[in-house]
Amino acid sequence: MIEETIRHERSAYGASPWDIRERMALLLWQVLWPTLCGWTPKPFNGWRVFLLRRFGMKIGQKCFVHSRARIQKPWNVEMADGACVGDRANLYSLGRIYLGAECIVAQEAYLCTGTHSREQPGWPLVTAPIRVGRRAFVGARAFVLPGVHIGEETTVGACAVVTRDVPPRCVVVGNPARLKETKTVSSNNEANA
Ligand SMILES: CC(C)(COP(=O)(O)OP(=O)(O)OC[C@H]1O[C@@H](n2cnc3c(N)ncnc32)[C@H](O)[C@@H]1OP(=O)(O)O)[C@@H](O)C(=O)NCCC(=O)NCCS
Repeated sequence: MIEETIRHERSAYGASPWDIRERMALLLWQVLWPTLCGWTPKPFNGWRVFLLRRFGMKIGQKCFVHSRARIQKPWNVEMADGACVGDRANLYSLGRIYLGAECIVAQEAYLCTGTHSREQPGWPLVTAPIRVGRRAFVGARAFVLPGVHIGEETTVGACAVVTRDVPPRCVVVGNPARLKETKTVSSNNEANA
């Protein structure tokens, strides 16, 4: 869970941990996404993907990003082929987010890569990457904490709060999310491996 955890030092209390270049990119992104994409209907997915790529997001083939998805820093997000980000899903990508092939991040799910170190004065920002495995499903309004890895073909139930890594091919529900059952891998999934 702690791999690639980064502590972002700040010059002074309240100061931004990002350099001027990144802050300018953030500002531009925050203006352009709602203006050029936020209103677009579903079939304009290609246009949204185009803009996201221009802002450094790595997006494979046949990915879908809903117009009302919120992506904090597209340059920190990687989507493998067929991954899908739903309506009002929130990719809070202060740290890196990896979405595996054909995974689904459902409506209003929140992938949160940032927190604060409460042990240090000034509570510096700490980021850790989130990985969603291939063909995993993150249910509506689920909340995924920094550093969590969701295994392949795993289902995170609606409104679950995922605080720890989740193994492949299982179902977790609740707050904190706990194992519900183990799934059997279907032959269809094997065929697509
Ligand atoms: C997790 C989920 C896949 C489980 O589905 P299921 O296997 O059909 O589960 P069931 O409906 O048979 O419920 C089984 C038990 O799990 C509980 N449960 C199911 N989903 C739950 C959830 N999200 N959170 C907490 N408990 C849940 C049920 O209350 C039931 O408990 P009980 O046995 O004590 O009565 C499903 O409930 C879910 O959350 N789906 C996500 C829906 C969603 O996000 N849709 C987005 C649009 S596509």
